[in-house]
Amino acid sequence: MQVCATVAEVRAARPNFATLGLVPTMGFLHEGHLSLVRASRAANAATAATLFVNPTQFGPNDDFGRYPRARERDLDLLSAAGCDLVFAPEVETMYPSGFETRIEIGGVTEGLEGSVRPGHFAGVATVVAKLFNIVQPTRAYFGQKDAQQVTVIRKLVRDLDMPVEVVVQPTVREADGLAMSSRNTYLTPEQRRDGLALWRALSSARALYEGGERSADRLRAAMAQPVAAIGATADYISIAHPLTLRELDVIGEDGALLSLAVRLGTTRLLDNILLP
Ligand code: PAF
Repeated sequence: MQVCATVAEVRAARPNFATLGLVPTMGFLHEGHLSLVRASRAANAATAATLFVNPTQFGPNDDFGRYPRARERDLDLLSAAGCDLVFAPEVETMYPSGFETRIEIGGVTEGLEGSVRPGHFAGVATVVAKLFNIVQPTRAYFGQKDAQQVTVIRKLVRDLDMPVEVVVQPTVREADGLAMSSRNTYLTPEQRRDGLALWRALSSARALYEGGERSADRLRAAMAQPVAAIGATADYISIAHPLTLRELDVIGEDGALLSLAVRLGTTRLLDNILLP
């Protein structure tokens, strides 16, 4: 596995691979990331991953400073998973002095995470566009866990005619249902237990839907109960159209994206499912 820190090193290595799958990450890898590496390896001649905690997608009150980092462990995991190339740049490599470009995407960035984290998706879109330009992957792999991010990246690729196929893999969960996330490491044992409220909320709304309920408000109310039961506050509880991410009154033929973000102490947990 080749580890590159500069754009020139990646550019020199790229012609070695007929097709290249890219797994962009901020490191502190877990089984969810490794499932993306496996999916990429199954479909491409080679697989690259990026390790870069992108400062521009964190707001002033977000957790950039304390975001967990474990570079050597991540490199070992990527090597064991069969990754061929890793791009792990310094902040100055990605954002040298004089950097002034920002990609703003409308519509799909307005609700959900976008309503609580202003500027977050401009940071994501800008860094993902840079990573695509640097690595020039055939396909890029993302987890359904960050459902709005996936929608934003699909739009980025479509609107800017980027020659990359975006592949989305299912959320990987712990045995009890908690969605895997690098931020789970922040949770105290009690918060880890409370974190299951997100999966309970999604599961109870799905059960109602499967029983024939189509009122988005009744599903939202069902999702609110497990969150209230642990005494937490949700940043949002959403039943949205799966493509436009606009809030729904009634779930129609296109189905819905059910999602929520809940604060447990200083940690925000996100989760979602798609219906049907
Ligand atoms: O999902 C993430 O880890 C990040 O948002 C990404 C896509 C690597 C961009 O920094």
